[in-house]
Amino acid sequence: MFLWGTATAAYQIEGAVAEDGRGVSIWDTFSHEPGRTRDGHTGDVACDHYHRWPEDIALMSGLGVNAYRFSIAWPRVQPTGTGEANPKGLDFYERLVDGLLDAGITPAPTLFHWDLPQALQDRGGWMNRDTSQFFAEYAAIVADRLSDRVKMWITLNEPFIHMAYGYGLGVHAPGQALLLDALPVAHHQLLGHGLAVQALRASGAEQVLITNNCTPVWPGSDSEADRAAADAYDTLHNRLFNDPVLLGTYPDLSAYGVEMDVRDGDLDVISAPLDGLGVNYYNPTRIGAPTDDGLPFTDLGITGYPTTAFGWPVVPDGLRELLVGLRDRYGAALPPIHITENGCSAKDTLDDQDRIAFLDGHLAALDQARADGVDVRGYFVWSLLDNFEWAEGYHQRFGLVQVDFDTQRRTPRASYAWLRSRLSPDAS
Ligand code: FCB
Repeated sequence: MFLWGTATAAYQIEGAVAEDGRGVSIWDTFSHEPGRTRDGHTGDVACDHYHRWPEDIALMSGLGVNAYRFSIAWPRVQPTGTGEANPKGLDFYERLVDGLLDAGITPAPTLFHWDLPQALQDRGGWMNRDTSQFFAEYAAIVADRLSDRVKMWITLNEPFIHMAYGYGLGVHAPGQALLLDALPVAHHQLLGHGLAVQALRASGAEQVLITNNCTPVWPGSDSEADRAAADAYDTLHNRLFNDPVLLGTYPDLSAYGVEMDVRDGDLDVISAPLDGLGVNYYNPTRIGAPTDDGLPFTDLGITGYPTTAFGWPVVPDGLRELLVGLRDRYGAALPPIHITENGCSAKDTLDDQDRIAFLDGHLAALDQARADGVDVRGYFVWSLLDNFEWAEGYHQRFGLVQVDFDTQRRTPRASYAWLRSRLSPDAS
């Protein structure tokens, strides 16, 4: 059965940050620091999904999706990131999973969508190799409670974005600007992924995936310098996270003068077979030769295409290009793909024709890729609800359903009705 779903993440929708024993996450800390997010927005309340989840499941049922990708907040399960589980945190996810199953919706939880317990950040976060082991212990706790009902698991969300934005550039939590010195964060997340796969398998998990943010990389010109820079960017954004998982090797990083602490056996752990690759696609990236900011490339931006409200270029064919490119690069080593996020921010109207055009174009590109022989098994729209869009706070609206953040009123947009009829033409 092809999975059609919507995707969300814990910190972006749950709110209830001090309830039922939840610990502090790096996003609580970061969003409360002056100047970190637009207008100082925080996820303190967000969509209040922690209390309103039955209404949100009803919205999914109304949409006609058969799957839901959400994330589990590590600090709800282990408030300080290690040690004893907090039963009330697990109870919440159990209620959610049971509610989804009752509605005939397949739960697809992600174990880490960027909300690291602050107590682990105080020990270095993902710069510290120990975090990999702690992550696996957390995975075991969650799987122990839910794996009788959850069949599909995603370990990490977008380890590239978490490394680059959180530790490289400092625009996301934990707000460190280490540039290429952030590279150990890649290895420690991937090691955490591999150790979590072992824990999930030991609990009987049927399907385990990782979700990577992938982008087709376009050189700014045909010049040698632009092509070399595009290659460097492709290495850091795409291959650094796909190669070790799928091939058991790291791409050559020696040109960047940074070493990762890769120990004997690590790559065997990281490359344990997966049942699928989660791919998040938003847009291609156009790259030119470096300037002198310490990075081996320059992001040139893409012109000549429509843009979303966020200013991101709308390039539906990039999804086909990406999928065919992954198949060509990895061949038989590529497991089935799930598009675990795709969607756009748009003006805050109910008649969101831009979003309909975005989704229509991307679903056509998906069909093309499948017709070209790429094995895709699922597609999840980002997002069900308007939510806390990280550094942009509530200013970027990605929802099929509008949220009024003063009243928490949810109102389905035109794209919701459009998607419903696209998913089940006879029902509408
Ligand atoms: C992705 C994130 C997701 C959301 C979308 C717009 O990078 O995984 O949480 O913010 O971007």
